[in-house]
Amino acid sequence: MKYALITGGTSGIGAAYAKELASRGYNIVITGRRREVIEKKASEIRERFKVEVEVVLADFTQREELDRLLKRVEVMDIEFLVNNVGFGNKKVFLEDTYESQKKMLDVQIDAMCRITHMVSKKMKASGRGNIINVSSLAAFTPASFNHLYSASKSFIVTFSEALYIDLMESGVGVQVVCPGFTKTDFHREMDIEEKTFENRGLVRWMEADKVVEISLKKMERGGGICIPGTCNKILYLLLKFLPRGVYYKMAKRMSM
Ligand SMILES: NC(=O)c1ccc[n+]([C@@H]2O[C@H](COP(=O)([O-])OP(=O)(O)OC[C@H]3O[C@@H](n4cnc5c(N)ncnc54)[C@H](OP(=O)(O)O)[C@@H]3O)[C@@H](O)[C@H]2O)c1
Repeated sequence: MKYALITGGTSGIGAAYAKELASRGYNIVITGRRREVIEKKASEIRERFKVEVEVVLADFTQREELDRLLKRVEVMDIEFLVNNVGFGNKKVFLEDTYESQKKMLDVQIDAMCRITHMVSKKMKASGRGNIINVSSLAAFTPASFNHLYSASKSFIVTFSEALYIDLMESGVGVQVVCPGFTKTDFHREMDIEEKTFENRGLVRWMEADKVVEISLKKMERGGGICIPGTCNKILYLLLKFLPRGVYYKMAKRMSM
């Protein structure tokens, strides 16, 4: 029985992957912390696509809860993995305790690596599978309000590209997707004002479904990095070629 594991399937981008992969016939395993919301999402997918949907409640900042998920996944045949769990900084690095800031590393780096390590080894042995790691355009935009968010998303890009190169020609595809601003629960969780959700210049808000559609279409052609949306691609290229000194000054001005 073929399974897709999507971490953070409660809402937003993860829920969109779960829906899209269910429509392609995968049985689904989704994880999250909000019990009622995720159970509702699971029932909707079961009813609409007639596939099995299993919910694993796990807070990735809690080691024993992540261990429980890994134990469950170890005995399953996961053919598609989407490492999607993530959250934004509520406090800046130097105005918070290190223990609180470290949760970002536990969730976006340690949990992602542990799940990938277990699942990709099995995929490599069987010679088939797909892995999508959800990073962000923030991987390329370090700023004084997002130290560990931006740095961990940057880690996800580098790690995923290394895995992609490693598993090339093994039958296992690896993609790292870097969405720009996307309408999900992400910014609401961060208590960001509603007016922030407006298009400005090259900043274009995308729907989660569109991000997922582009990511999966690109995955069919092969792995590597995926930047969904034309404006996001332009931003990515501008950031890549902008002299660092100019970027630093811009980023400093924008954070004031
Ligand atoms: N929205 C954007 O503009 C944007 C842009 C670029 C990249 N991204 C990335 O896209 C990914 C998905 O985010 P989203 O925008 O779809 O936001 P979202 O709607 O808030 O979804 C985040 C998911 O992660 C789960 N999650 C958060 N913290 C967790 C923790 N400590 N342990 C376990 N699960 C946890 C949430 O589950 P519960 O709510 O059930 O806890 C939820 O399912 C993230 O990696 C984010 O960094 C988002």
